[in-house]
Amino acid sequence: MKRYIKKSQVFILLFCLGFWNIQAQVIHINTENSSLIYHVIENKVHQFHYGKKLQSIAGMEKLTPFFNEAYPSFGNGNSDEVAIIATHADGTMATDLVYQSHKQEMEGNVQHTTIHMKDRKLPFYVDLHFKAYQNEDVMAQWATIYHKENNVVRLEQFASSVLGFKAESYYLTHFYGSWAHEMRMVEEKLTNGVKIIETKRGVRTTEYENPSFILSFNQKAAENYGEVVFGSLAWTGNYRLSFQIDDQERCQIVGGINPFASDYILETNEIFKTPRMVITYSSEGKNRASINLHRWARKYNLRDGDKIRPIVLNSWEGAYFDFDANRLKEIMDGAAEMGVEIFVLDDGWFGNKYPRNSAKAGLGDWQVNKKKLPEGIDDLIDYAEEKKMKFGIWVEPEMVNPKSELAKNHPEWIIQRKNDRDPLLVRNQLLLDLTNPKVQEFVYEIIDQLLSKHPRIAYIKWDANRHIQNFGSTYLDNKKQSHLWIEYARGLESVFIRLQKKYPNKIFQACSSGGGRVDFSSMKYTHEFWPSDNTDPYERLFIQWGTNHFYPPIATASHVTKSPNHQTGRQTSLKFRFDVAMGGRLGMELRPEDLEHGQIKFAKSAIKLYKEIRPIIQFGDMYRIQSPYDTDGFASINYISPDKSEAILFVYSHEFHRRMERSYVKMKGLLENELYEIKEINKEGKKSHIKFDKQIISGDILMNTGFKVNLKKPLESAIFKIVKHTE
Ligand code: DGJ
Repeated sequence: MKRYIKKSQVFILLFCLGFWNIQAQVIHINTENSSLIYHVIENKVHQFHYGKKLQSIAGMEKLTPFFNEAYPSFGNGNSDEVAIIATHADGTMATDLVYQSHKQEMEGNVQHTTIHMKDRKLPFYVDLHFKAYQNEDVMAQWATIYHKENNVVRLEQFASSVLGFKAESYYLTHFYGSWAHEMRMVEEKLTNGVKIIETKRGVRTTEYENPSFILSFNQKAAENYGEVVFGSLAWTGNYRLSFQIDDQERCQIVGGINPFASDYILETNEIFKTPRMVITYSSEGKNRASINLHRWARKYNLRDGDKIRPIVLNSWEGAYFDFDANRLKEIMDGAAEMGVEIFVLDDGWFGNKYPRNSAKAGLGDWQVNKKKLPEGIDDLIDYAEEKKMKFGIWVEPEMVNPKSELAKNHPEWIIQRKNDRDPLLVRNQLLLDLTNPKVQEFVYEIIDQLLSKHPRIAYIKWDANRHIQNFGSTYLDNKKQSHLWIEYARGLESVFIRLQKKYPNKIFQACSSGGGRVDFSSMKYTHEFWPSDNTDPYERLFIQWGTNHFYPPIATASHVTKSPNHQTGRQTSLKFRFDVAMGGRLGMELRPEDLEHGQIKFAKSAIKLYKEIRPIIQFGDMYRIQSPYDTDGFASINYISPDKSEAILFVYSHEFHRRMERSYVKMKGLLENELYEIKEINKEGKKSHIKFDKQIISGDILMNTGFKVNLKKPLESAIFKIVKHTE
């Protein structure tokens, strides 16, 4: 009784003071130019707005909610896609989340908001989290789900984020592909119904489709005008993004881990944390959104995003499995002569009982192959260092060939279907069960031992060449087999975290067959990714174009390889190959002996030049000018230093053109009122591709009038350096 009186007194007091206003709780999450607003009406949290920053929300409480709940649940009147489906301990499948409280804190540039919700009847909770990065206009959203019910709760859906929009029409751009054909862009108008972007592959999750999307309103997405929202799920596992246009022409996006065959048994007090959905809004078209994400990634989400990336020569396309120490040293001689900074030894260096001489055997046996490398790794490191290069090495620690000592010694560590079903092989290999802490330890130790035995190894290329497929774990409880997809990704992340902690100064590359681990989760623990095994510069124009819509050029490894290209057979000049690779983190992947004297000379000067200009490419803002997807067969892009005093312009001609047709370029991002000197660089001969080479021109003209670049043949290119002119 006493307690009751106290509570009601407090209520009356709050009511009289006007604090008790459940009609209009407003939660305003914002960045410099965007707002995500929720309002709480009758204890239910609804999204009110995501888009342009609202300067005033006066009168908002008078409107009725237009969008679904912030985190729509199953069993609560929702007929659209939902964020959560749970079977509670008492068997009910209804969840009804009501607002409890929220808090907002500012920590420097980052505003952190938490909205705490509880089921109306049961001790079942969902907290929505948001980090809003003010200067970069980026937000990250995720949810934590937990309960205090007296038995387990079964989760069948557990989204990271739900966003609602209202426009006249919606255009979705997504990024599909396959091996050697990754990150192809396709744009489509959304019509009523649900469009799903997803993967169910578990590993190499971004090879066929990336968890990134662009939503444009009322028109196709344009580079420099119009409202767009970019989103990308930071998760190295199965994902699902649904885009629903409902009967009121609203668009609702639900994104998160793919719930496909992934029911999750949530123990009492266990916290289920969803991955982050990273979003940015731009009212100035796509380019601004890409710049937002690149700046954000370099500052908050890419390992050592503020450090220059060295130039790599990787042994794969130059030697494949066919090498010994002499062959590698000969490659190193050429690499050093050209100015390469790290030599990376790729696949094929390990296995003795089952030597790794092809993709058929040895994977899992991480001892140096004595026949190929009798003097061991240190001998190679010594040689690299004598040549003033660092040394890096390839691993594929999550995988095993059946023909290996590991497979014979630890068959229980392999992901497998029970009851003796035949294992489904991909590239002759199987996957280790990273849900198992012993396997996590083993994977960790492979790298740990390599790096502690050979502390001068500077770079690890981390490959992963198959999907899950043989679904089943000997470690997971029978009732929790469906946790495999999620626990695998978590297990991998835990190894990444430990390695990052122990080896803060090593460089890591996420490879995964090329393009298989291009996501904002892997990126937190790695310095770069390998976007594709396709090293044909023509193909790379498209792959890098798509990739760099979300992921920054500094992390985009791009290698100059041999011509004709090993994947496509296409012939290209060394210059064209360099000009494409220099738009990302430049590297090489060939046997220098295969280059003629004149080519070595060209490579040497291109590498020297890249060293000078790479701060602009790696830390600058990227502006897309002409898209390779456009039908005119030209592509161009410019990078600008943060203070806008220096820029690098790349122009490519990749198709056949009509006789009089030339590329016409309007640069972007310069200062209109400043003068700039424009100079062609990385030239093959003396002749320039512009008439006004080395002349001083205003930023205004370079951007708004534009100029002709004399490229006419397919697979020709030119690079220009633009420097602010000071008298
Ligand atoms: C796939 C990778 O993408 C290649 O770069 C190379 O490392 C091979 N695997 C090696 O097996």
